[in-house]
This record gives sequence, C-alpha cells and structure tokens, in this order.
Amino acid sequence: MINLMGRNALPRGRFFGDFMRTIEWDSTKKLIKMIDQRKLPRRFEFVTCQTVDQMVEAIRNMTIRGAPALAVAGAYGMALAVRNPQGEIRQFARYAAKQLIDARPTAVNLGWGVNRILKIVDSSEISDSDLAERILKEAHNMAEEDVRINRKLSENGASLIEDGDTIIHHCNTGSLAVVDWGTALGAIRFAHEQGKRIHVLVDETRPRLQGSRLTAWECDQYGIPYEIITDNAAGYFLRSGKVNKVFFGADRVAANGDVANKIGSYMLSLAANANNVPVYSVFPLSTVDLTTKSGDLIPIEERDTSEVLDIEFQGEAVTPLNAKARNPAFDVTPHGLFTGLVTEAGIVYPPFEQNLASCVYNNNLDG
Ligand code: MRU
Repeated sequence: MINLMGRNALPRGRFFGDFMRTIEWDSTKKLIKMIDQRKLPRRFEFVTCQTVDQMVEAIRNMTIRGAPALAVAGAYGMALAVRNPQGEIRQFARYAAKQLIDARPTAVNLGWGVNRILKIVDSSEISDSDLAERILKEAHNMAEEDVRINRKLSENGASLIEDGDTIIHHCNTGSLAVVDWGTALGAIRFAHEQGKRIHVLVDETRPRLQGSRLTAWECDQYGIPYEIITDNAAGYFLRSGKVNKVFFGADRVAANGDVANKIGSYMLSLAANANNVPVYSVFPLSTVDLTTKSGDLIPIEERDTSEVLDIEFQGEAVTPLNAKARNPAFDVTPHGLFTGLVTEAGIVYPPFEQNLASCVYNNNLDG
C-alpha cells in the first residue's frame, strides 16, 4: 500500500495510464484492486475485493464511483461472484447481479455492465466450469473498451475547447470516474495535452466534494491550472463574462437528451444559460438509456443524510445536534439547457431525441 501524506508528496502524472488504473484485476493474487477514492487527495491507498459482497459495499460507500467506472466494477463484481458461488453458480450470479445493480440506482452504466455479464450467465453454450473464466475475460474486455472509448470521447470533447478557455467543471469526471482518461475532465486533459491553455474552475461539489478532493487532485497530476470554487459561486463567475464553457459528465441520459448527473448540475446549467455560456455533457454511449423516455423517469438516489450533516468547520460541527436534512445525490438537467452532448461517436446537437437515437443505433448499442 502506498501512503503518501500531503499532496505535494504525490509525483505528477504517474498515477494513470501505464502505471495505475482506477480498477484492476490482480492476476497473481486473484483479486480486484481499486484506488480508494474516499481517502484522496491526502492519502493514496488501495482497496482490494475478493468477494462480491465486498464489491457491493465498495460501490455503496463510494470507494469506487463515477458512472463508467461502476460499469467495470459491476462486471468484476460478477467475476468475483462466480469464482466463489454460494449455491448453484448461475442462480448465485443472478442474485449477485441484483445486489450490484441496487447498490447505486441512478448510474445506468452499472446495470449496463452487469447485464452484459448476465448474457454470458444466461448462455446455454457455456458450461458451468467455463463460466468464471469467460466472465473474467469479458470484464477485462470492458475495462480495455472503457479506456479506448473514453480516450475517443475526450478527443471529441477537446475539439470544443479553445486556447485560453476558462471552464467550469462539476463533480469528478476524470480517470478516477472511469478506468482511465475520463469524460468531461478527459476532454479538458486532452485539450491541455494538445497545448491549449485552459483554466478550470473546479466546483467543490457538495456534499461528497468530488470536485475539491478528486478533480483538483487529478488537475494537479496533469499540470492543468485550476482554482476550486464553492458550488454557489458558479453564478457569480458565469455572470462575470469570464467563463467560456461548462463541462460535466452524466450518470444516465434519457431518450430525449435529459441528463441525470451529480446534484448541482441543473442549477449550474440554469445559471450558464442565463448568461449565454454553452453547456456540454460528456459521456460514453453506454450512459444513454433509450428505455427511459425523459429525465423525470430517472430514479434519483437519496443518500444518507450524514453526508450533509456530519461535517465540521475549523474543528466544530456545523449543524445543530438534531438537525434533519435531504440528500439527493443527482439531479436532472433538461435537454433544452445543453448546447451539445459529447460521445465517442461524435458531438450530438439538437434535436437530441432524434440524433441521440441514431447515434446509439449506428453504433450497435441497444441503449
Ligand atoms: O456520486 P458519484 O461520484 O458516482 O457521481 C459521479 C458523477 O455524477 C459524474 O459526473 C458521472 O458519473 C460522470 S463521470 C464520468
């Protein structure tokens, strides 16, 4: 385990790509190894999972998070389930699939990844003794695909970014949210590597602070200039005329182009539209759910209120002892607030309903 105190102790640009991925299979120890995203930015530690129950818990408690990373975590979770089935192997695999999918209900990628593995479980052509190996192989394929697809959509997103742009970014959508590269932050990183000078205003992203903890850490790794802002400062900066674009990811995109993403994305998009700043959501096509007609039908995860209440400022609790709270983890931004939706197959412009569907079908995904 690497345990480095203080962000300056972390060497830049060494944690992704050839060196380390967000989630990996350790073929020697036969287990899953993941970066512990609860500990960053001050501690860089790994968590290992040997059972599907451990993976379900890691997804629930956000050791691993971010929609595309959850697809791969779900697939590897299935691989763990069939290595050590409690009961009849296929029956246990179906039970494990439900546990995994229910762990985080909004990000459709999790169900997409698990269902892809269930196709193998349901195949009568694969014997019980071959199942574990076939599923592990498919999980590896998905991890490789994730990197390839995210690099491509990052390249597409980078084409929208101009030299000198200031971009507001919400949540964390970098390598940590996928296997490698990322979506919205991947596009920013790609543009940065093309030599474009970009300044990122990093929304801190309450309550779990994926912006100030993870996106800021990733920007440090890549050498991308950034400043952290409180979520409620975004309107101030958008009105100043000094912000060129808003970029964020997606956890589920409905057939009409409505986007469920980290709580606060909607308010940010409203403020951007009021100030004529273009808004882009960047995601792989596996995030599109054509079976859900509009954003109103997307299930929104409500997380434990301790995430809102149990915080301290300068060593003191910030809420009264018996305070109550609400904690929706996502909101829906209606499609009308987007300038474009960026995917690996290109940038989708309005009318979103029609153009998203053709994009999905032309790329042989079932949505
Ligand atoms: O609750 P999280 O941290 O899993 O939420 C993540 C987001 O909302 C991201 O913006 C989204 O998954 C897209 S990441 C590539």
